[in-house]
Amino acid sequence: MEPDLKFPPQFFWGCATSAHQIEGGLTNDWSEWEKSPLRLKKLIAKKLNHFEFISGAAANSFENNNADIACMKELNLNAYRFSLDWSRIEPENGKFDYTALNYYLDFIKKLRAHHIEPFLTLWHWPIPIWLRDLGGWESKEIIKYFDRFVQIVAKHLNSEVSFWLTLNEPTVYAGMSYLTGQWPPQKKNPLAYWRVLSNLIVAHRSAYKIIKTIDQNNQVGIASHNIYFEAYKNRPTNCLLKKMADWWMNERFLNKINNCQDFIGLNYYFHHQINYGLGSSHKYEKSSDLDWGLHPEGIYFLLKELKKYNKPIYITENGLADKGDQHRSWYIKEILKNTHRAIAEGVAIKGYFHWSLIDNFEWAYGFHPRFGLYEVDRQTFERRPRSSAEYYADICKKNRVV
Ligand code: BGC
Repeated sequence: MEPDLKFPPQFFWGCATSAHQIEGGLTNDWSEWEKSPLRLKKLIAKKLNHFEFISGAAANSFENNNADIACMKELNLNAYRFSLDWSRIEPENGKFDYTALNYYLDFIKKLRAHHIEPFLTLWHWPIPIWLRDLGGWESKEIIKYFDRFVQIVAKHLNSEVSFWLTLNEPTVYAGMSYLTGQWPPQKKNPLAYWRVLSNLIVAHRSAYKIIKTIDQNNQVGIASHNIYFEAYKNRPTNCLLKKMADWWMNERFLNKINNCQDFIGLNYYFHHQINYGLGSSHKYEKSSDLDWGLHPEGIYFLLKELKKYNKPIYITENGLADKGDQHRSWYIKEILKNTHRAIAEGVAIKGYFHWSLIDNFEWAYGFHPRFGLYEVDRQTFERRPRSSAEYYADICKKNRVV
């Protein structure tokens, strides 16, 4: 007999998105980079439709956020994680647009009216152009600008928001933008990478204090991208290499901010088998459309590893690109079975946010990876549930994996 996979009372069942990936109509460092002539030339040379790599109208969520709320209702969500776009709120240095801030305030009020708890991400990667021109995350100056932004936003939205995520996946951003050069500003400079990481740490710590000063009851953390490193056959060298990888990739940032975080936000996508540093020989039963091997057991081990922080854990992202919806329901089920197992063994997991609510703009990959429980028509922006949406809706309604 299968065990009863009931989740604890008040468990948050959510979905996650980010502003740049769904809103549309944005002007920030990413939107400018997407349209840069050099990039377009490369895409055209590869015979790719370059419009598919420009965020443009994205999923049109800014114009019609009711369409997203309708999806959330159908899914029986009681939580939603989303982000603000900094460039909308502060289009020029020091000039804050209160119309934009009120737009977000109204949106949050609508969520609340539907009994959906907002989990607000303050920074999910893009920055305003003026800030890019001042050196972006590489310059120490950004800390004072981030402080000012956080102060104004948190004051404005405090009455409606209790859960705050200052940064999304800082280690991924620093690596992709400053070390491997795949994302804007496309640097491949270990020193710049180090500086960016250090600034992100200071920025979080400072933002934490600002949000807590506004209201001590606020719950503040980050969304951390942790990879499950598996030591092949538990061989001593592999175990040692795993320890090093865990420390550098998963734990260092969390340790640096540990006295300034009320919860741990975990984004889980990847498993990596360590075998003397020779690369993985692991054969995945199933893979996503991006060819990312699906390894739902990994979340169990990561959650157990995060127990040592002794803080509530929210799975702030987990999902897959799966246009044909072949594996999504299976993946959700297996991920949640593994989450349940960790809860049964005493890990304080308080919520799960599926990535993503709707198909969206997947950064450098453009629009082709489809992460949504809802398919989005690229012309009309109509949202249509994939069959996994029905499956997830049932779980959210019953607070139990079925
Ligand atoms: C990011 C999302 C992204 C997702 C899928 C996460 O690393 O936070 O913005 O869409 O992964 O790649």
